[in-house]
Amino acid sequence: MIDDIELSQRQAMERVETATTLEHLREVETEVLGKRSQLSTFKALLRDLEPNERKNVGRAVNAARAEVERAVGERRALLERAERRDQLESERLDLTESLTSYRVGHHHLVTQTTELLEDVFVGMGFTIAEGPEAETDWYNFEALNIPKAHPARSMFDTLYLDLNEPESTVLRTHTSPVQIRVMDATEPPIYTVAPGRVFRRDTADASHMPVFHQIEGLVVDRGITFGDLAGTLESFTTEYFGGSIHSRLRPSYFPFTEPSAEFDINCVFCEGAGCKTCGRTGWLELGGCGLVHPNVFRAVGYDPEVWSGFAFGFGIDRLALMRHGVDDLRELFTNDIRFLEQF
Ligand code: DAH
Repeated sequence: MIDDIELSQRQAMERVETATTLEHLREVETEVLGKRSQLSTFKALLRDLEPNERKNVGRAVNAARAEVERAVGERRALLERAERRDQLESERLDLTESLTSYRVGHHHLVTQTTELLEDVFVGMGFTIAEGPEAETDWYNFEALNIPKAHPARSMFDTLYLDLNEPESTVLRTHTSPVQIRVMDATEPPIYTVAPGRVFRRDTADASHMPVFHQIEGLVVDRGITFGDLAGTLESFTTEYFGGSIHSRLRPSYFPFTEPSAEFDINCVFCEGAGCKTCGRTGWLELGGCGLVHPNVFRAVGYDPEVWSGFAFGFGIDRLALMRHGVDDLRELFTNDIRFLEQF
């Protein structure tokens, strides 16, 4: 019987060694140590034995059980280590992998265009200025010769801020208030451009956005003429778009300039021949300009008899799209990486 017990122990230990997972080991454990296991049946047989033999056999069974239990314990520890290792391996974050797919970003198309415009104007001797996006009524309208109730206020679908007196603070509707701020802060001569974000109560469509970008130009010096304005815009146009694109001025109206003009450039798509984008006119409208109105000089305390100047302002976003032949302004601001990464 002792031999049977030893054989049973060996078989049990062999079974334990074959367990390859913790779950499998649990099944084997019940099989070799549970109530119905061979080792347990030996215990049941003890009752029928001589007291002496019962003692020996009993000890042998207990020893065998202890051995098998030890083997199960060791096997469990081993399998636990292996399972933990597998888990760690499967959950490992391979950081070198994300390095290989790492992509360097770049400036947004509008920022690139703004910087290019700045470069062109700096090359022509202009400085760069900035102003706040939240403006007072004075800077955005009043000082620009647009008093309250002036019909020109309706040119701008103004967004008002709930600040101070009602309608006293606006999100600037154009970059023209920077003209006033520059003149407040410095004495002529002034040769400055001011790019920035502007806001209007507009519904987004292919050619309008409630938030967009403009670049403002201001020159104040002695004896500035309309010819200087036309020449500056023409130099800018050929410099920015290349020699085949030219500018023209059309009479227009702005309260802060007199005379005022709209300035167009040859259509960059058909180079003046006439196409769908330019409405078959051969011209694209870029912005407004004119000679600084005497009332604007008076608002900042400049003597209009001494100083003269010109100003211009145009949209940057449309310009950015023109260069790349994109026809929907909204593309610029939906932040679809597939669109943005092309520029
Ligand atoms: N501020 C005008 C607008 O947003 C554009 C403009 C027109 C600016 C004439 C100027 C200018 O400086 O002289 O519609």
